[in-house]
Amino acid sequence: MKLVTTIAVLRQELGRCRKKGRRIGFVPTMGFLHEGHLSLVRQAHKDNDVVVVSIFVNPIQFGPKEDFKMYPRDLKRDTGLLRGCADFVFVPPARELYPDDFCTFVEVRGLSGEYCGRTRPGHFTGVATVVAKLLNSVAPDTAYFGQKDAQQAAVIRKMVGDLNIPVNIKVMPTVREPDGLAMSSRNTYLSPKERQEAVVLFQALKSAEHAVGTGLCDTQKIRGMLEDFIAHTPSARIDYIELVDRKTFERVKTIDRDALLLLAVYIGKTRLIDNTLLRAGRRQ
Ligand code: PAJ
Repeated sequence: MKLVTTIAVLRQELGRCRKKGRRIGFVPTMGFLHEGHLSLVRQAHKDNDVVVVSIFVNPIQFGPKEDFKMYPRDLKRDTGLLRGCADFVFVPPARELYPDDFCTFVEVRGLSGEYCGRTRPGHFTGVATVVAKLLNSVAPDTAYFGQKDAQQAAVIRKMVGDLNIPVNIKVMPTVREPDGLAMSSRNTYLSPKERQEAVVLFQALKSAEHAVGTGLCDTQKIRGMLEDFIAHTPSARIDYIELVDRKTFERVKTIDRDALLLLAVYIGKTRLIDNTLLRAGRRQ
């Protein structure tokens, strides 16, 4: 496994692999790796000959009052976890991606301003910009993303399509803790009490799945039910609950086709997101 810090060296190394006809899989991350990230790396390892993982806490996807400075970082631990399943770890310093005169941004209009984008203005432009730069630098055959960040995956798919970036995007299922909490680097912010209460997101998703399974399909009612459900958890404050078409991400009024239930909930000061697919017409 090689640690690379510049785009030039990365291109050189990967150019050699490509010449030998090797397939390249790429997993972009912000580090502080957990099983969710590693599931993407393992899939990339399965599908490809060469695996590249990037670790970069991307400053431009954080708002001015967000957690860029305190975002957890542990490169030594991360590289230890990647040994054996990644071939290249790309760890660029911020200047490598954003020199002083940097002034070009990728904006995926529409979707970027909804849901998480309402609470976090500019976030998805930061994500789309860095992912475009990373895809240009790595030029992988396939790039891997997690369903945990469903809107992010949709923004990236749209960008790749609109900009004709020649890469296959694969979205992998959410990896959870034993109690159901979706794994996230931000879970480390939770106090022990909050950590216990954070399971409310998963429980809310499950209760919605159950309600839809027994015939409830009015999304306003589902939303009301979830608001009541989450209100029982003292440290929880809802940011948004949305039910959207799984492909277009447009809001739906009834579950007459498969829909995504998107949740963003503050547990104390930590904002957590999660989602599940609600299947239409499937009575349990
Ligand atoms: P990060 O939060 O580090 O996540 C990197 C990748 O891991 C993303 O595709 C994310 O969806 C996936 N992931 C996170 N938690 C997961 C879980 N519990 N199960 C499955 N996959 C999970 O997302 C980012 O970084 C950044 O926005 C990035 C795309 C790297 C751009 O900066």
